[in-house]
Amino acid sequence: MENRQQWGSRYGFIMAAVGSAVGLGNIWRFPAVAYENGGGAFFFPYLFALLTAGIPILILEFTIGHKYRGSAPLSFFRMSKKAEWLGWWQVLISFVICTYYAVIIAWAVKYTIYSFGTQWGSAPDKFLFGHVLKLSETPGVVGNLVPGVVIPLLLVWAVALFVLYKGVSKGIEKLNKIFIPTLVVMFLIIVIRALTLDGAAEGLNAFFKPNWDSILDGKVWVAAYGQIFFSLSIGFAIMLTYSSYLPKKSDINNNAFITGFANSGFELLAGIGVFAALGFMAKQQGVPIDEVVKSGIGLAFVVFPSIINEFPGMNALFGVLFFLSLVFAGMTSLISIVETFIAGVQEKFNVSRTKAVLTGGLTATVISLLYATNGGLYLLDIVDYFINNFGVALAGLVEVVLIAWFFKGLTGLQKHANDISDLRTGAWWKFSLSVITPLVLGYMMFDSIRQNLEKNYEGYPTGLIMTAGVAVVTAVVVIGVILSFKGWKSNINSNDKKEV
Ligand code: PHE
Ligand code: NA
Repeated sequence: MENRQQWGSRYGFIMAAVGSAVGLGNIWRFPAVAYENGGGAFFFPYLFALLTAGIPILILEFTIGHKYRGSAPLSFFRMSKKAEWLGWWQVLISFVICTYYAVIIAWAVKYTIYSFGTQWGSAPDKFLFGHVLKLSETPGVVGNLVPGVVIPLLLVWAVALFVLYKGVSKGIEKLNKIFIPTLVVMFLIIVIRALTLDGAAEGLNAFFKPNWDSILDGKVWVAAYGQIFFSLSIGFAIMLTYSSYLPKKSDINNNAFITGFANSGFELLAGIGVFAALGFMAKQQGVPIDEVVKSGIGLAFVVFPSIINEFPGMNALFGVLFFLSLVFAGMTSLISIVETFIAGVQEKFNVSRTKAVLTGGLTATVISLLYATNGGLYLLDIVDYFINNFGVALAGLVEVVLIAWFFKGLTGLQKHANDISDLRTGAWWKFSLSVITPLVLGYMMFDSIRQNLEKNYEGYPTGLIMTAGVAVVTAVVVIGVILSFKGWKSNINSNDKKEV
């Protein structure tokens, strides 16, 4: 195997890490989560979660990647011979996520084009579900491939796999150095324009109005931790893989703070932009803001098209900027998830990057076609819910507990990071990881299990929940364990020494 690839510059690494973190979650998830969990008062649980879980785990994952210099499976294997499975588990979670994440980007590509002439017309919901997705009436029917989705999907994969094939600094870093600054500029234009719309002030009022009672509500704290986890891409091998390409001399702690705050900054910006636009729409339609607040697919592909319809001039420009922002934010995240298994496959089976991209990437491409069918949206919804709640969050919990309490402990890792960082972490870091995060995530897990035993997620049929939900989250653990029993094809020890 060739010498380990490296980032070309610190700036490049930060752009890539921020590129992974800043994704659809910032734009379509954060605004509604904050609004529904206390508005301005949500700031406190959110900041607390950022400082006791988000940034500490980022530092942890950056340190592991930097210290052990491998994909997640290899790094965990080097940390403890018994930990390789954890790496595969996280990598497989990433694999599952990328298969549907790519599909959402494909829709955003379509909508960028639809923006010219606001082709969704006056009923954007019928347009989305009927015309674009050709959604089947009942969940569980997979049906046929929808060519209108398949084509942009293949395009998304072609771009992502090409960038990955080019490698860490010539591919991933280069793309992020272009996409992230461009995304920020495009998004700033949207936000500034939205702020000047009639009704923006009412929108912002609704968003920032603090509901202080919410601070006493456990649900709100769980929502804050959930948002931080998802938003920072922690717990599923991404940040660990990216940091394994850092040069020996790298300021880990500072990089983690920059990444964490940049992601939250973008989230706040999105909250302002989205609520300014929602305030405008509520005023146009003469309804209270509460009725137009949505998150996820509904916000991006139904509510935003309606807003763009009512836009006073230059609708196409606003639409293109919005959907292109989704494409850019999504592409940089997609590439980071796929890199986790490209790196894992490369090291485990001792194959070239090209071969890993071809085998791993094309397998993911083929599986992603499942979501480009008539029943694709239902499938996507269930897989997304289960993999986030019983994949990402659970793997994060297990990671933190095993490292803090079982393997070699946090002291050595902390020393490793502190020795090369300007900013040194103290007792706060260890306490957050060994006590606060496990308690909160443990409670979250318990609560999600309880809810799911009470009733099926979104009332979906049990058979579908069992296959698309339970079977998928179980399979990623089982396959992860099986893979960890296979030996390493590459000479992982000698490869070690070659590194400078
Ligand atoms: N962190 C990304 C966001 O906020 C989400 C993401 C999901 C990133 C999966 C990578 C992989 O949208
Ligand atoms: Na994010």
